[in-house]
Formats: sequence, structure tokens, C-alpha cells
Amino acid sequence: MTERAPVTLPRLAEMKEAGEPIVMVTAYDYPSARVAEEAGVDLALVGDTAAMVVLGYPGTEAVSMDEMIMLGKAVRRGVKTPLMVGDMPMGSYESSNELAVQSAQRLVKETGCQVVKLEAGGIAVERARAIVRSGIPVMGHVGLTPQSINTIGSFRAQGREESDWGRIEDDALAVAQAGAFSMVIEAVAEPLARKLTGTVPIPTIGIGASVACDGQVLVLEDMLGLSPRVPKFVKRYGDLGPGIEKAIASYAAEVRARSFPGPEHTYPMKGKKP
Ligand code: KIV
Repeated sequence: MTERAPVTLPRLAEMKEAGEPIVMVTAYDYPSARVAEEAGVDLALVGDTAAMVVLGYPGTEAVSMDEMIMLGKAVRRGVKTPLMVGDMPMGSYESSNELAVQSAQRLVKETGCQVVKLEAGGIAVERARAIVRSGIPVMGHVGLTPQSINTIGSFRAQGREESDWGRIEDDALAVAQAGAFSMVIEAVAEPLARKLTGTVPIPTIGIGASVACDGQVLVLEDMLGLSPRVPKFVKRYGDLGPGIEKAIASYAAEVRARSFPGPEHTYPMKGKKP
């Protein structure tokens, strides 16, 4: 494979301009980061979905900054080419611009991510603007914003009634005006996602927001069949769960039958057969 140049913000803007689809996937650890690198994705997101997918919490609101930093450091060791996006966990940016900038700086300095993402609507637009002004690029996130689950009540798709469009459009425009370089659009009806993508001057990355977006993102474990949750918008590109379970069961059976380790896995004394 020819060496790929690291993905940059200007390259992503160019891709939108050229109508070239942008590929983002989540990564929460070193092995998944290496796989994302080898697969040639454009962006690797250390998403706060890690809370549920790899840490076993019931929702994204539980994950802490320290946990996100530990995961991000592992991802950094595995990715060279994709732009690495660090997700700002709930509680790390809402209360003031100062906190938002400090948290973004911490993510960048301690994990090595190049950009941060935050669920930006309402007051969070101001936080996004402050982070951009501090010199850290920001990816916004509009539509369904899982950190607000206690306000919105359920993980239902947004913008399925035209009366909802104004609020989501306002958020998207405000995020772009705040200086974000890109935004995730999550679980939004297709006509609205198309309208937003045509309106905002920055690349939109959809998840459950149709093919009309400039790019797509999926949670790696969801697409590989490794997580029990399967939202409507997930396509399973693999079903690795049963294969892994079968491999572990075979290992357990061989250990119990004392057929593993065999001679080929055993160190004999020098000059002797095992
Ligand atoms: O945390 C995450 O994985 C995300 C994606 C769903 C975009 O924000």
C-alpha cells in the first residue's frame, strides 16, 4: 500500500468541496486504532460512546475525563494517518469557557489528539467558540446529542417533523459560525441532513443521518457485531462476536483436556525433543 499523507483540516475541506466521502470510525484502544490505521480511514474518533461500548456504563454521561485520556493515549499509539478526534465528556466543558478551554487543552496535550469534539447546541456553541479561539480545532455534534439524554428523554431520531427543524438548523449554523471545522449530525431525518449539508460550509459527518452527509461515522464495535446495541442506523459489516466466543470456548476445552499447550508450544531443554 502506498504511504498516505496524514489527514489535515484543509484536506477535509477539500474533500467536501470535491464531493469525496469522508470516513470516520471510533477507536478506543491500541488494537482498534491500528486496525483503523491499516484500513485507511480519514478520522479516528475516541468517542464518549466508549462509556457503554468498552467500559460497560449505562450511558455516555458516566465517563470521566481521566478515562477518556487513558483511552486516547492508547489510540494515539496506534494511529498516524487519520486525524485523531478526542471527544469531550459530559462535565468537561458546559459550565464555563475557561473550563472548556482547559479540558480541550488537557485532551490535546495528554492524548495527542489533534482536534476535539463536543455536543454543541445552545450554550455549548459559546464553549466551542472559546476552544477554537484558544487554537484548538473543534468538531461539533448536532441532532441527537446523547449527553442530553436526561433532557430529551430517549434516543429517538430528530427532525422527523418539520416543526423540529428550526432548532437543529440553528444549532448547526451556530456551530459553523463558531469556527468548527466539521460537525457530526446524529440520528436526523434524511431531508434535514441533506439541507444542513448543503447549507453549512464545513464537512458534515453523519451517523444515522443518511447518505446525504459529506461523510459517515460508525462505532467500530457496532459495525463488527461486538456490541449488543444495534440502533437502526448501524450496518453490521462483520459478526465477530460468535467467532471470538467460539475461539475462547475451544481454548477452554483444550486447557481442560490438557491438549493445550502441545509440544509445538513448549520449550524443550536444549538438544532434547519436548
Ligand atoms: O461518542 C461517539 O462515538 C460519537 C459518535 C456516535 C459520533 O459521538
